[in-house]
Parts: sequence; structure tokens; C-alpha cells
Amino acid sequence: MGKVVVMDHPLIQHKIGLMRRTETGSKDFRTLAGEVAMFECYEATRDLELQDVEIETPICKTTVKELKGKKLAVVPILRAGLGMVDGMLEMIPAAKVGHIGLYRDPETAKPVEYYCKLPADCANREVFVVDPMLATGGSAIAAIQMLKDKGVKSIRFMCIIAAPEGVKALTDAHPDVDLYIGALDDHLNEHKYIVPGLGDAGDRIFGTK
Ligand code: PRP
Ligand code: URA
Repeated sequence: MGKVVVMDHPLIQHKIGLMRRTETGSKDFRTLAGEVAMFECYEATRDLELQDVEIETPICKTTVKELKGKKLAVVPILRAGLGMVDGMLEMIPAAKVGHIGLYRDPETAKPVEYYCKLPADCANREVFVVDPMLATGGSAIAAIQMLKDKGVKSIRFMCIIAAPEGVKALTDAHPDVDLYIGALDDHLNEHKYIVPGLGDAGDRIFGTK
């Protein structure tokens, strides 16, 4: 069973509170989404493997720690996931970036695939799937299945806000995937929007409302 980590850092909680406010405009919303992603990335990379390496400082020889093991990749679920990419790359600048295009059909709330472009060596990378919202879980489940179908074995999913329904669906469908969640909300409404949530993340990031 993968981990489900709900962030308790005060800065993350404060910034998500600002994102929720109706009066927060696109520019600030985008900035906040990037900042929250950066803080979450810090937590989601906490258990990456390290190795000892001998180096020389200007003073003497010494042993330092350096990242070992798989290289990293960030895969946003389009569109809203794009709002988390820059924040992730601030923390892990060497990561490659793939893109998965899915939108939720407004009638059925089921994900519809329209794009997939991944790093050629993604099967050998530790992949961070990012999307601000985990509502029914349909989009995340489909995106992760697309990655597994390409041979990816190590996957972490990061979102800013999750509904309990989405967490259950995702952990049931992909029990091997670790989840990093900025805030766990109450429930989904009759339109499958997260309550209290923050509305439509893609529209708020790109000003398309
Ligand atoms: C939103 C969000 C997730 C999905 C979550 O995207 O960014 O991808 O809905 O809902 P789910 O868990 O029920 O699948 P949307 O489909 O609105 O597309 P967009 O990012 O292009 O706005
Ligand atoms: N997608 C969003 O952008 N917001 C929700 O609350 C649910 C799905």
C-alpha cells in the first residue's frame, strides 16, 4: 500500500487558503499554485535515496551526500497540472517533463484522453504526476494507467486539494502509488466539484472562466 501524505505545513495551509478565495485573481492564483507545488515537492522527495561521495572542499577532502538511484520526471495532467510544473522544477531542475492531456467530460465527469508525450526514458525514471485537483480520481487513475502502460514503475501523485472520494478511488486503483495532498477536503457536490474546494483550477490558472 502506498503512502497518503496530507501536508500539515503552515505555509502550505496559508497559501491554499488564499487560493480558495473567490477574489484571488489568475495572476496570484498561478503564483500560489507554483509555490504550493514547490513546498509539496520538498515533502514528496523526502525519501529519495542518497549515496556517499568523496569530494574536496577548498579546505580538505570530505564525504558528502548526493542523490542516487532513478532520475526524475514531472508529468502534469493538462491543463491545470501545468500550474504546478515550474514550482516542481525550482526544486528538481534536472527532472524531465512529460505531458498527459485529459479533460473531464462535463456530462459524465469521466476523463477523456487527448494528448500524451513522455520522456523517451520515462520507464526508468521516478515520475511525479501533478494535478491541482483530485476529485472523483478518474483523471489521475487514467493518467497513472497510461504511465504504467509505458512501463513506468515508480510513480508519485501530487495534488493541491483532494476529495476523500478521489483518494479512495485512486488508492484502490493504484495501491502502489504514493499520494501527496496539500489539503483533504470534505466531499464532492452533485457536479463532482470538491467542497469547499477552490472551483475550477484550470479556469482559475488560465483565466478562462
Ligand atoms: C480538472 C483537474 C483534474 C480533474 C479532476 O481538470 O485539473 O484533472 O478535473 O477531476 P477528477 O478527479 O474527477 O478526474 P479538467 O478536466 O477540468 O481539465 P482542465 O485541467 O483542462 O481544466
Ligand atoms: N476539477 C476542478 O478543477 N475542480 C474541482 O473541484 C473538481 C474537478
